[in-house]
Amino acid sequence: MSILITNIKELVQVRAKSIPKIKGKAMNELPKIDNAFLRIEKDRIVDYGRMESLANHNANIKIDATNKVVLPTWCDSHTHIVYASNRVQEFVDRINGLSYEAIAQRGGGILNSAEKLQLISEDELYKQSIKRVKEVIKMGTGALEIKSGYGLSTESELKMLRVIKRIKDHFPIKIKATFLGAHALPGQFKNDKSGYLDLIINEMLPIIAKENLAEYVDIFLEKGYFSIEDTNQLLTAAKPYGLIPKIHVNQFNAFGGIEVATSHKALSVDHLEVVNLEDIQALKSSDTMPVALPLCSFFLSIPYTPARALIDEGLALALASDYNPGSTPSGNMNLVISTACIKMKMTPNEAINAATINGAYAMGISDEYGSITKGMKANVMITKEIPNYNYLPYAFGDNHIDKVIINGEII
Ligand code: NIG
Ligand code: FE
Repeated sequence: MSILITNIKELVQVRAKSIPKIKGKAMNELPKIDNAFLRIEKDRIVDYGRMESLANHNANIKIDATNKVVLPTWCDSHTHIVYASNRVQEFVDRINGLSYEAIAQRGGGILNSAEKLQLISEDELYKQSIKRVKEVIKMGTGALEIKSGYGLSTESELKMLRVIKRIKDHFPIKIKATFLGAHALPGQFKNDKSGYLDLIINEMLPIIAKENLAEYVDIFLEKGYFSIEDTNQLLTAAKPYGLIPKIHVNQFNAFGGIEVATSHKALSVDHLEVVNLEDIQALKSSDTMPVALPLCSFFLSIPYTPARALIDEGLALALASDYNPGSTPSGNMNLVISTACIKMKMTPNEAINAATINGAYAMGISDEYGSITKGMKANVMITKEIPNYNYLPYAFGDNHIDKVIINGEII
């Protein structure tokens, strides 16, 4: 099967060779070809260039992209898209004055989601989750990291991870699984954190490793959740199983968590709504990707990750959705980049780099995903007719994506 896309107004994020990540000033460079063609064979990008240089017009499927923009699909490196039911009542409660923290303290929040997840079957959880997965694919997401963390018991964490595995087996997009057993303390361990960590380390981790249910390990490193000591203990225990850390950190407080994560060679540190100079220093001397989640800041009305400070210090930055029922009930990556431009003062070039190549890095797949490069996976999206790619973040809230191609197949 071959696809030839012609007359592309702008073919965006074209890289002669795949690059692992982009940082600092280079984030503001977004290579593109005007009036371009793109050729796909089987599941790979095989050729591209200017229309004048297109010699062979043969293909099984021909798509005319006049006035349309073509980009690589989004790499959403941080989601909790597998969950049971919604938390719409907490949304209303917050509007009426309760804080996210206060809701969690009264047994709502993550524990609310855990209770709901315990009650539903694996099949029902799969059914609910794939509805959302299909929606985000339609909006241009071609790679998705998915976390557990609403189980909080061996049985339910495994239920979540098995659902993620089913999604991985049944959907063409790239899926990476992260074990987030240390998301919150379940009720029965309310006064026994070390007991819960023991359960995670001695019961959950071995099964997850044996059944190959996760590539990454995560912990909510935050006041009132898990400490630096807990993080050191978990990450040390997870290492022999080959689980690489991706850490929820600095959402509400900065107290050295980023340094701990980088010392364990975390692939990414995510949230970072609060960042201090020591955090920036730790990031500078590491290969860890900082990941901002602007829709979480938007929904919870908390500060935005200081993207300008990070990028202007020469660091890389990725953007992800954080799609989850409590802090971000949206997986719309188009809205993620709009919000990053509007609220975090990222340029469209920086935001698109952050949601493609750097997102791919934050899920360990930048050798095959995130750019228009010969030999890489044919995961691309074609917009509707728009003036140029800056229009994507500019005209926020609308769906500008017309077609999505995953592994060389039109979805
Ligand atoms: O990334 N901060 C921790 N965890 C999730 C949300 C948890 C929830 O409220 O369900 C997040 O925002
Ligand atoms: Fe999250």
